[in-house]
Amino acid sequence: MRISIVRKAHFNAAHRLYVDSWTKEKNDEVFGLCASSNYHGHNYDIEVKVTGDIDPETGMLMNLKDLKDLIKAQIEDRFDHRNLNVDVDEFKDLNPSAENVCIVIHQILREHIDLKYDLHIRLYETPRNFVEYPAV
Ligand code: NI
Repeated sequence: MRISIVRKAHFNAAHRLYVDSWTKEKNDEVFGLCASSNYHGHNYDIEVKVTGDIDPETGMLMNLKDLKDLIKAQIEDRFDHRNLNVDVDEFKDLNPSAENVCIVIHQILREHIDLKYDLHIRLYETPRNFVEYPAV
């Protein structure tokens, strides 16, 4: 029996969107306020969805406590109250757009979750704007 479980989590972080090789004018034109040189913050919400077969012995897909601890250690502890551009290695050369943050979260968690499970990440950058990876 295939089923999905979802764990919600949250972190606050700052970022700035810009392309080094562009002029300030072009960065402002493309990214608007998100290119502001002194960074700005978001209250990010994430939904981590794990899909697979229920274990017939436990009746569970996986232990939600394990998923909670994994998200805390790998995502919240590394991203919360950080400047994504400056403090998080994955964004040294990668624009921390919502799209890229979502993909990076997927890449990090994918390494720690058994490949027998499918993994899907939804990242809210604002209450009304969210991205999903893999695409659905
Ligand atoms: Ni932003």
